[in-house]
Amino acid sequence: MKRRPLIAGNWKMHKTVPETLAYIEAFKSLVAGVEDRDIMLAPPFTSLDAAERALEGTNIYLGAQNCHWADEGAFTGEISPKMLADIGVTYVIIGHSERRHIFGETDKVIRQKIEAVLKYDLIPILCIGETLEEREAGKTLKVLETQLKEGLKGFSVADLKSLVVAYEPVWAIGTGKTATPEQAEEAHAFVRKILAEMFNQEFADNLRILYGGSVKPENVVGLMARPDIDGALVGGASLKPDVFAKIVCFGRME
Ligand code: 13P
Repeated sequence: MKRRPLIAGNWKMHKTVPETLAYIEAFKSLVAGVEDRDIMLAPPFTSLDAAERALEGTNIYLGAQNCHWADEGAFTGEISPKMLADIGVTYVIIGHSERRHIFGETDKVIRQKIEAVLKYDLIPILCIGETLEEREAGKTLKVLETQLKEGLKGFSVADLKSLVVAYEPVWAIGTGKTATPEQAEEAHAFVRKILAEMFNQEFADNLRILYGGSVKPENVVGLMARPDIDGALVGGASLKPDVFAKIVCFGRME
């Protein structure tokens, strides 16, 4: 069984609309014809509509970085999955560690967001990962297990057929410190094992698990060579079209 790789760029709070359009103009030609893997860009909310138009007819999917759990309501400053579906978003990143640690998102809130995203046939990318303190205390696998069990509580295999999980060790995000392929593989294999126990083996075997945390053109090949690493969620190195295109095109003949 072969899982289709997904290379996703999370721009975080970067780029205006003109900057988004200039990026896409350059990037789309660098990855044109790459059909053996999925490519996704997640610009900030303000750029989504313009990006959707600019990506029309390309091989690049559009993602959002977050959403609310309700369809609409008195939630000042929030964006709903209904709104995202309406403008042509395909993927939504849920529970990114910056949402968890800076904005206080809990596993319970993350679970609600996943449910809301699925209601609109959007694809959730559930982010999980341990802090440095948790790793040093030997709690990594326990933290991952709790985040999976709480975040995916009560869903069926049918509900989650599109789910993507991203393992992003907090200590590797934006620090230049990548997990070694061995450390990442250990976590990914564990995630797959827990999901097989929670759901079933076939579900776990088909699910894509991305690695995120200082992915660069120089380390993507080693990470992607591991059996349970099915793609990458890239922050800083996705901000330049030529650098991100190199990551997307890992392992292809020049
Ligand atoms: P960096 O690639 O900048 O470490 O960020 C990773 C990340 O948080 C992607 O969601």
